Order: sequence, then C-alpha cells, then structure tokens
Amino acid sequence: RELVFDYSKTAGFIREEEIVNMKKAVLGAKEVLTEKTGAGNDFLGWIDLPVDYDKDEFDRIKKAAEKIKGDSDVLLVIGIGGSYLGARAAIEFLSHSFYNVLPKGERKTPEIYFVGNSISSKYIKDLQDVLEGKDFSINIISKSGTTTEPAIAFRVFKDMLIKKYGREEANKRIYATTDKAKGALKNLATEEGYESFVVPDDVGGRFSVLTAVGLLPIAVSGADIDQLMEGAAAARKTALEAEYEKNPALLYAAVRNILLRKGKQVEIVANYEPSLHYVSEWWKQLYGESEGKDQRGIFPAAVDLTTDLHSMGQFIQDGARIMFETVLSVEESPAEIVLQKEDVDTDGMNYLAGQTVDFVNKSAMNGTILAHTDGNVPNLMVKIPSQDAYSLGQLFYFFEFACGVSGYLLGVNPFNQPGVESYKKNMFALLGKPGYEEAREALLKRL
Ligand code: PA5
Repeated sequence: RELVFDYSKTAGFIREEEIVNMKKAVLGAKEVLTEKTGAGNDFLGWIDLPVDYDKDEFDRIKKAAEKIKGDSDVLLVIGIGGSYLGARAAIEFLSHSFYNVLPKGERKTPEIYFVGNSISSKYIKDLQDVLEGKDFSINIISKSGTTTEPAIAFRVFKDMLIKKYGREEANKRIYATTDKAKGALKNLATEEGYESFVVPDDVGGRFSVLTAVGLLPIAVSGADIDQLMEGAAAARKTALEAEYEKNPALLYAAVRNILLRKGKQVEIVANYEPSLHYVSEWWKQLYGESEGKDQRGIFPAAVDLTTDLHSMGQFIQDGARIMFETVLSVEESPAEIVLQKEDVDTDGMNYLAGQTVDFVNKSAMNGTILAHTDGNVPNLMVKIPSQDAYSLGQLFYFFEFACGVSGYLLGVNPFNQPGVESYKKNMFALLGKPGYEEAREALLKRL
C-alpha cells in the first residue's frame, strides 16, 4: 500500500488554483534535481540508491549483522547527525517499544545503544555501566571520519573493548562506516583491519539512511532491510514518474512553499505514536540542515501527541500564528487493545467499552486536526500505511525527494551545511587544537 499525502484540510488557507500555479516552478525544481543541474549536484547519489546500490556490500551488511547477533549482547552505534538519526528512527519505528529491556529469549537480537551524539560524560559513564559483563560490538559511523562527538565516544569504548577482548579480537568487533578512501577513521580502519562499509561520496549524511550508515544497525535490530529498500524504490518510482497532481512529494513541496509565502515560517511535524519520535528527529535534521540557510527556510519543529497537547498544544492552538502542522499518521496500528466494560463506571469511561485504544487515539488525532485548523493552523497529513519496513522505506524517500525539490524551490543549495562549521571552529579554538591559536585568543577575550 502506498503512502498518501493529504492536504485537503488546507482548503481554508490555500485555493486549489494556487497549487496549480505552483506546478511550473515545482516541475522546474524537480528537473533541476533529477537532471543534476543545481547547486550541490555532486550530492545526489541518494536519488537512485533504492534501485542502484552496491549489492555485494548489501550482502556484507547482512553477514556482519548476523555475526553481531551471534557474538554480541549489545551493539553500540557511534555517530551523530546524518550518521545517527536515520538508524535510530528506523529501529524505534520498527522494533518493540521496549526493545532494549525485553527479557532474554523474547528478543533474539542485541540491545542497541546510540552514543557519540552528544559530549555528555554522564551518558558515557552510564553506558559503560550498562556494558558491564556483556559482550559487545561497535559500529562507528562517520563520513568525514573526523567529527569530534563520535571520535570521543569511539576512543572511550574502543579502549573498553580492547581491555575486554585484547586488540586482535576487539578489532573483529569494530565495524567502521566511513568514506571509501579518506579520513582519520578510514586510515584507522585500514591499519587495524576493521570490517569497513562505505558512505558513498555523492550521498550526504542526512540522505544516507539507505546506505550502510542506516542499514547495518537496522539489520542488527532484526528489521527487514530488503523491504525497506523496496518501499523506498516504490516511492522513488512515484516521485520520478507520477504527474504533479498525483505526486505526494511534489505536492508536499508545493504546499509548504505556498504556506511559507503566506508567512507560515514554522512547520510542526506531529506524530501520535511514541515510536515515531525519532522519525520526527530525522525529518527535523533533513529539512533544517537542507533549507535553513542564506537567512531563509521553514523552521522544522516536532511534537509527540497526544503527550504534547498537554504542553505545546496551548501554543499551537492559540499562540502566535506562525506555523502549519504536518501530521504523521500510521493508518493501521500493529497492536489492538479493546477497552473493557467495568461493573461500576467510576471513571466514566464505560462509553468507550468495546472500542480499541487506537480508535481513541485516532479520534484524538481527528479532533485535534480540526481544532488546530479552526485555530488557523493549516494542516497537512502524511498517511503511513502500516508500521513496517516497506512503509518506512516509502516515508524516508518521500521526505528526501520532497526536501530536494523544496530546497531548490526556496532558492538554496539543499545539500550543503556551511552553518554547521561555525560552532566547530569555536570549539576547536577553545579546546586548543593546533592551528586555531589566533581564534582562541579572540574568543577567550569574549568569554
Ligand atoms: O547531514 C550531515 O552532513 C551532517 O549531519 C553529518 O551527518 C554529521 O555532521 C556527522 O558527520 P560525519 O558523518 O562526517 O561524522
């Protein structure tokens, strides 16, 4: 079943004629993307990934996943940004909500922990405690191979691995996903003989979930990476071939651009399933890093509902009218819980007896969509057919393609991230990294 993009609830904000008027510009942006004539065109390898990927490496990923499943209680996934969020989004979307704490036997795959996505000593220390007495392996992921956060975590946990197993065995438990030829991590991997996987040159971090970056940790969790690729391939076909009026990715790009022109500068992605939290985080990075530049862009925000209806719901309903909302709806819940009738209706919930919890959730969602629409928040909806790898593959590709089109519509290069460098320069200077002496003096005076 296909993913659906539904913008019918924007009727009070956007006339159908406006969608028609955007057609030429959207198709133009799509052409710039697919003909590779725009800025950042050396980072478009992701467009064909679902049908044109390294099959040998794909098999190696599956084999490595089997080895990790066989010899490890825990897999540590070390990476940040695009080298982190896709895998986490997929694993949380596709796995048991309490994956890591399921009793032994109920989960045949290793516990999976993410680290190197912050510089928190407490987090690292606490994770070391979790590893006590457990067999573990490490997947270190860094395209550049030089990013500080994962490099620090890798130092710590590599050391722990060596102390536990000795260097030779430790090296067999380290899987490096990085550039095919350059960078500190690549050099180390070659020197130490780590099994290595490639982040292709023409795929940027935030578009890399369907490479080894995402696929190895996802495969270790037991999810079906063939289905993930198939879903992405189906969405690719639709994105490339469907006419504008029936093309979810193109319509999404069109509608959000129209809304931006009407002053809606914030897009809130709203989910009604906790397991979608990291899909929203992945989406935030994809759109934030791709569009937020040259003093332009839509600020990507996210809420988990109904949880945040009891906090951020007030602002969305009634605060400054700066936003539109994009609901991610899983059409078919994988779990059915029917509410029972109680003899004494003390809590007044008997009127729901016989209904499913998902019916209540969907009713909350539909009620909220209408309330927010009445509160002048235009509502878009992405309908995810079911909570499985095929649907997730579609979702990833839909958002990636729409992001490329949307960035070109906005007039920015969606595939670079010059702004990310500024904090790094300051951090290196303050840390005393050689070569940053002058910047250090200047910064210290300002602190
Ligand atoms: O999308 C991006 O390019 C970034 O978010 C990177 O993925 C992130 O900075 C991590 O970079 P690297 O994989 O080089 O460690």
